[in-house]
Amino acid sequence: MKALVLSGGKGTRLRPLTHTMAKQLVPVAGTPILGYVMNHISEAGIKEVGVIISPETGDEVKNYLGDGKRWNFSIEYILQEKPLGLAHAVFTAKEFLGADDFVMYLGDNLLSYGVKGAVERFLQERPDALIYLKEVDDPTRFGVAELDSSGNILRLIEKPKEPPSNLALVGVYIFSAHIHEAISKIKPSHRGELEITDAIQELINMGYTVKSEILEGWWLDTGKKDDLLEANTIVLDEYIKRSVKGNVDGASQLVGRVEIEEGATVKKSILRGPIKIGKGTKVENSFIGPYTSIGEGVTIRNSVIEHSVILNNSIVEGVDRLEDSLIGRNARVVKNNKKHKALRLMIGDDTVVEV
Ligand code: TTP
Repeated sequence: MKALVLSGGKGTRLRPLTHTMAKQLVPVAGTPILGYVMNHISEAGIKEVGVIISPETGDEVKNYLGDGKRWNFSIEYILQEKPLGLAHAVFTAKEFLGADDFVMYLGDNLLSYGVKGAVERFLQERPDALIYLKEVDDPTRFGVAELDSSGNILRLIEKPKEPPSNLALVGVYIFSAHIHEAISKIKPSHRGELEITDAIQELINMGYTVKSEILEGWWLDTGKKDDLLEANTIVLDEYIKRSVKGNVDGASQLVGRVEIEEGATVKKSILRGPIKIGKGTKVENSFIGPYTSIGEGVTIRNSVIEHSVILNNSIVEGVDRLEDSLIGRNARVVKNNKKHKALRLMIGDDTVVEV
């Protein structure tokens, strides 16, 4: 069993962050999303991992993952010149995958329990595809499955206007080598992509066995700001423990599960967990509320922040209340103290500012 992790794509929904960074490397509770994906693959005992990268963000992804030794597997990087769809990514990796079974894991998806159980089931029952399904509130945004009364998959439909069920396809799949045959038969969809949903439907049409498993626990697709903030909330809730390695002065108060890394300093501030504060970050005269992740080398002064993600080396100063926000690297959000209160902005393409 091999694994194929998809870490290419355009990331249009997370612009402007994705103009300069891979969306799979955006940190959730201080760890890049791709790190959680690799932990799950490692737990399942997989030793050979292919990672799909794009020309724009491939180097950054390679820099973070390296040779994979720290997860106990080897990594082969596979360049997909253009993001022509999930099934196209599998097609691009055909040589690496050979005739082996493989787990396909979307690099921007987070699952609570990982894939170990599904891999064991696949090896026991040996279907041609095992797909995870999850009940969702708005199935029109996803690939959706129609099942018969005994739970077999009858049909898969991408973003249906009238969904036959509320069971969405989760971004993790296990395939036998027959998937390559199915991919060779499908045509690009109306959005010009080779869809993995169409390839799985083709497997069904060809008479191969496609089984499904309803996913217990949470599943988060971190492709948009609000999904990313929700992922941050859930992961902080689950994993953060109280740990203070940085320096907190006597005039500050820490409430609940607050994780402060080495070299961070907190002065005259109240921090109410779950919160994660990265290395070398300075917090002064501020209130940081629950579900906030602050990266490394950040400065927060005279501000109130809640339910937000702030990436490395940014500055937030004099902001009365910042919430539900995602702030990129090296950004400055600073109050204008002049009498004449005009907004003064220098912001990148595709930025959203709500004032
Ligand atoms: P998506 O989020 O569906 O696509 P995208 O990255 O192009 O994002 P957006 O819709 O915001 O423009 O992709 C799911 C995952 O698969 C993500 O980690 C990127 C990856 N991917 C590839 O590696 N190759 C591809 O051709 C596509 C479409 C996605």
